[in-house]
Amino acid sequence: MTQTTLTVNGQTRTLEVEPRRLLADIIRTEFDVSGVHIGCAHGVCGCCTVHIDGIPRLSCLTFAVQCDGKEINTVESLGGFDATHVLQQAFKSEHGLQCGYCTPGFLMTLAPYVEKKVANGEMPSDEEIREAISGNICRCTGYHGIVAAVRKAISNQLEGQQA
Ligand code: FES
Ligand code: FES
Repeated sequence: MTQTTLTVNGQTRTLEVEPRRLLADIIRTEFDVSGVHIGCAHGVCGCCTVHIDGIPRLSCLTFAVQCDGKEINTVESLGGFDATHVLQQAFKSEHGLQCGYCTPGFLMTLAPYVEKKVANGEMPSDEEIREAISGNICRCTGYHGIVAAVRKAISNQLEGQQA
């Protein structure tokens, strides 16, 4: 067992953790945060994406003990229970989800991407957006709604800056 201090969505806890346990597992079982989804469990689908110190990472490929002292954020930290984050709203209006299993991973991959594009005043092409989501798999939507949602989230904010 290794003493490990993690902050998940602002909640800090020090736990005795077996070194073999994955971050995704610890977030779900010890912090009772269920927005982290496990799809493939070997780094292919992106469902388990969380932010570790603000950077998107795959929690199924990360040992919890590697995150000692780090801040972890999951989809629950984005827009709260009402899903008010601009990207969540765009996923809703552009039909960027169906079953929703992949959605937390897409949102956590895309939130910093959208933020960066807006900060730089850039509207990416659809091809660039598809490249940005190339590490995430969705079995339902065919990706069109997801790409449209990203476009909308960025354009709405760029227009808001100009207004
Ligand atoms: S569950 Fe982590 S990448 Fe698929
Ligand atoms: S919405 Fe079902 S897997 Fe993406």
